[in-house]
Amino acid sequence: MAQQVRGVVAPGRGEPVRIETIVVPDPGPGEAVVKIQACGVCHTDLHYREGGINDEFPFLLGHEAAGVVEQVGDGVTEVGPGDFVILNWRAVCGQCRACLRGRPWYCFDTHNAKQKMTLADGTELSPALGIGAFADKTLVAAGQCTKVDSRARPEVAGLLGCGVMAGLGAAINTGGVGRGDSVAVIGCGGVGAAAVLGARLAGAATIIAVDLDERKLATASSLGATHTVHGGDEDVVAKVREVTGGFGADVVIDAVGRPETYEQAFYARDLAGTVVLVGVPTPEMRLELPLLDVFGRGGSLKSSWYGDCLPSRDFPMLIDLYLQGRLDLDAFVSETIELDGVEAAFEKMHRGDVLRSVVML
Ligand SMILES: NC(=O)c1ccc[n+]([C@@H]2O[C@H](COP(=O)([O-])OP(=O)(O)OC[C@H]3O[C@@H](n4cnc5c(N)ncnc54)[C@H](O)[C@@H]3O)[C@@H](O)[C@H]2O)c1
Ligand SMILES: [Zn+2]
Ligand SMILES: [Zn+2]
Repeated sequence: MAQQVRGVVAPGRGEPVRIETIVVPDPGPGEAVVKIQACGVCHTDLHYREGGINDEFPFLLGHEAAGVVEQVGDGVTEVGPGDFVILNWRAVCGQCRACLRGRPWYCFDTHNAKQKMTLADGTELSPALGIGAFADKTLVAAGQCTKVDSRARPEVAGLLGCGVMAGLGAAINTGGVGRGDSVAVIGCGGVGAAAVLGARLAGAATIIAVDLDERKLATASSLGATHTVHGGDEDVVAKVREVTGGFGADVVIDAVGRPETYEQAFYARDLAGTVVLVGVPTPEMRLELPLLDVFGRGGSLKSSWYGDCLPSRDFPMLIDLYLQGRLDLDAFVSETIELDGVEAAFEKMHRGDVLRSVVML
């Protein structure tokens, strides 16, 4: 029997979100219904609401979530009712060329639930990143559920489902930060602050946090940044070079995703260094760089989708490190809110008041 639950819907471009009754079908083959316990508010939810991702309104927002599996459909063996899971937005197929050559984090054919959740009148919803977890329950592909140690608080665990994983992975997986490296992170919101934490976990010796907001710089320092740069008042490239003995950083992570921050990242890295773009640009943005500099400065320019994570490998491991007190994920939960607080949370995010507001259900 399909169930009716509450969910946060973005009805149209730029319109405020509202709570609607949504219909969640029973799980079909390969699907699972998850009772959501916590879901963080990510900048990507706001991108959806503003029409910055695509035009497939109405969206069911929310995608940084943890909860308990309620029901599974036929053929599901990897998870079962009662399992505590983090939802992921890249359920790998195991069959495509990337999967078969042992690089499943690049899977070309990730999948979501086949059935659609709808509004009460039957209008089909587009779940954000194939998840849609600002809701009491949601329908996903079973492969989107990654089982982790249930001793972790849901409001913390859920954050690994997107922004925190993206930031940690941008440093550890995509950037390949290693012991003794110098790292600069431009933009220290939820994603960038996690990149700072990831750089520290990987053994970076110098970690330079760049933001326009002093509060974000203070948090980044508490998470392990050794230096801070105020991007509005200081010349970011000159400052990063100064702190790194005139060279530039080995790895520079752009966690904003604008042409000007990308250009800073490009020039703030050492020769043969790595730029990692993890912030998401909008469709109209353009980048102009002298091609000779792209050639002459060497190194690599990479993008980081979801921190190049493999949920089955990374989520349980990171939760274990958290439970051992070796990964300060608590710092990311700025506040817990109710389902009707999402619109206000977007404003707080915009003003820079929070790293993450987390909806508790
Ligand atoms: N690649 C992925 O898989 C992935 C996953 C999640 C989020 N994201 C993206 O990452 C980006 C950051 O997300 P978030 O949740 O941390 O957002 P956020 O709003 O919490 O943080 C953005 C930070 O950047 C700072 N900032 C803005 N302009 C700046 C500038 N010119 N110089 C320096 N700092 C600047 C802001 O002060 C803020 O602290 C977004 O674009 C989001 O869509 C990407
Ligand atoms: Zn695949
Ligand atoms: Zn997100």
